[in-house]
Amino acid sequence: RPKVTVQTIRKMYKDNKPISMMTAYDYPTSVACERAQIDMTLVGDSLAMVALGHTDTSQITMDEMVHHSKAVARGQQSCFQVADLPFGSYQNDEATAVNNAIRMVKEGRAEAVKLEIGRRGAPKIDAIVNGAGIPVVGHIGLTPQTAVALGGFRVQGKSVAKAQALVDDALALQQAGCFAMVLEAMPSLVAETITKLLRIPTIGIGAGSATSGQVLVLSDMVGFFDRFTPKFCQSYADLGPRMADAIQEYDVDVKSRQFPVEGIHTYAMPPVAEERWR
Ligand code: KIV
Ligand code: NA
Repeated sequence: RPKVTVQTIRKMYKDNKPISMMTAYDYPTSVACERAQIDMTLVGDSLAMVALGHTDTSQITMDEMVHHSKAVARGQQSCFQVADLPFGSYQNDEATAVNNAIRMVKEGRAEAVKLEIGRRGAPKIDAIVNGAGIPVVGHIGLTPQTAVALGGFRVQGKSVAKAQALVDDALALQQAGCFAMVLEAMPSLVAETITKLLRIPTIGIGAGSATSGQVLVLSDMVGFFDRFTPKFCQSYADLGPRMADAIQEYDVDVKSRQFPVEGIHTYAMPPVAEERWR
């Protein structure tokens, strides 16, 4: 398949073809996304929780995100790779935001960065897109990096006033230069309205079926995160328990000396050497 580019995404959007995005956190998950021919991979800072065991995403550092993005890049061939800028790496001032976006591209080998910020982030997005020439994906609605301020992991935009605020955010981020926008955890009707108003693709997660594309957290959809599964996630596999089963079988085999099997998992000396050795 030819390399997916910003132009490919724009074309899919224009042709009304749904865009698929999936998180990837390391080399094997990257290869899995590549095999599945997903359109866009996201090195999401959700990895703080699902790969590193933090209780929220606010603690992950720029260094850690770059480290994971590099690993994902080594498994990518045709997917379009987006990486999250972590909490604290872009909130402060435009220069820091631009420097960290550049670092994510230069060291992390990402092709675009994603920022969880509303209207107030527009100048930073403008500086990254139009100043540094790095494509930006916006992210509004439930923004896990600032979940504390939102009062927890909860659906956003349920009142008319809050829905209108999301519409204002979406329009401001589009104006600032985002080429796509993640809409997380909001009523389907609000996501539909935003999708219709924008001329860039929306990628929904817990935002209904009217968005231009969908994204899920890989660990959630393959059953590889033990703590909780969000309501909006569809379960496609149960790999966590299956991996534990495999490890348990191995444990039993080791303790009963069923593994390794001589002649299958083992090395032999050449017969002459073996005879002399014995
Ligand atoms: O970090 C993440 O995985 C995300 C997606 C849920 C959009 O931001
Ligand atoms: Na994220």
